[in-house]
Amino acid sequence: MVHPLGPIEAPPSLDLLGPQGPEILPLITRPFLVLHRASSLYTARTCLLLLFDLGWEDQLREGTTLDGLCLGLPGQARKPLAWMLPFLVSEGLLRREGRGYALNGAPDLDLAGIRAAVDLEAPGHGVNFDLLDGVRSRIRPFFTEGRAGDSLLFDLALFPLWLAYFRNDNLVYYPNNLLTLLALRQDLAPDTRILELGAGAGSFARLVGQRGAEEGWLPRIAEYRFTDVAPAFLRRAQRALASEVPGLPLAFQALDLNRPLGDQGIAAESVDVIIGINVVHVARNLETALQDLRSRLRGGGRLILGECLKPSLDHPIYLEFFFSFIQSFTDVELDPRWRPMHGFLTPEAWMCALSHAGFRSVESTPPPRPLMDRHPSFNAGAITAWA
Ligand SMILES: C[S@@+](CC[C@H](N)C(=O)[O-])C[C@H]1O[C@@H](n2cnc3c(N)ncnc32)[C@H](O)[C@@H]1O
Repeated sequence: MVHPLGPIEAPPSLDLLGPQGPEILPLITRPFLVLHRASSLYTARTCLLLLFDLGWEDQLREGTTLDGLCLGLPGQARKPLAWMLPFLVSEGLLRREGRGYALNGAPDLDLAGIRAAVDLEAPGHGVNFDLLDGVRSRIRPFFTEGRAGDSLLFDLALFPLWLAYFRNDNLVYYPNNLLTLLALRQDLAPDTRILELGAGAGSFARLVGQRGAEEGWLPRIAEYRFTDVAPAFLRRAQRALASEVPGLPLAFQALDLNRPLGDQGIAAESVDVIIGINVVHVARNLETALQDLRSRLRGGGRLILGECLKPSLDHPIYLEFFFSFIQSFTDVELDPRWRPMHGFLTPEAWMCALSHAGFRSVESTPPPRPLMDRHPSFNAGAITAWA
């Protein structure tokens, strides 16, 4: 019988997942794969509905170009549209027509059916779809009035949905944290001083506290410096985390990875491990930021990046939808060697950027190839770089 979400990918075989495969494979359950497929489809339908909300249904029916849609719009509209149109092609809702795009027949835009399929096989994830609905309902002034995406998407109404998304019980977010944890746990020496960048809702710190206590390695952490650029995240973490993860020696600090870390109180060669989960790709100048991060690490220290990874730079992944409206994600300095475009990077682009920044060696958990060639929807990885 055909699944309402279309074909659901099979999990990868253990031999593709590297030495930590036995701990990674249990992440890739049937509910994970269903939710992953549903998220991509829901994002695509939401994207097309947004284009209809903006009044472009007839234009798309007749066929139009990126330039055609951008006519008369604020300049900031171009980057998200340049992402959405090929993404909609990849999801079969639009088709290419020369340089243009046109609706692919009468597209199925049913959202309730996707939610129902997920409720059956991966219950408890409606909030992921609420976030997508929230983005669609709030983002129109970004196109019509040139309003900043950040202020539209991080308002009081949506903030709880973001917090609910960045959780360890979200099957599609958890892999970022678990893969980073597997990398961190390896070679964790006594008296390790850890700094987390963009620690946000604190889901990684919680996982470290919980797994470290269960597995007996938590006492090896001498300090866990929880940092973020956003005061709202820091205040919330300061209130909640100390009681939730009592064994974790927490310190809190505002930290912007786009400003010199030394000016913000992080001394050179003072940290053993720097963690960044889905944050370092927003570095305005990746080369400068990575060099600065390396210089804060003691010799032999590690930078561990839990990142969404793209199988190739021209392959849009659904997770980019939210972020394509956020200036820090789109307005970054490009370099043809490792960052030819904004957004998430490929594993090879990270390798290149980290080596160029002077890291001695770089390793990924799990090894990204051939895994991502055979399973292009496996989008998470932890990249460890040794100073
Ligand atoms: C995708 S979220 C990751 C959240 C976090 N790992 C969690 O599980 O809750 C990215 C985080 O990076 C932070 N961030 C964005 N720009 C930053 C910057 N320039 N420096 C430091 N943190 C930043 C955001 O405030 C947000 O908390």
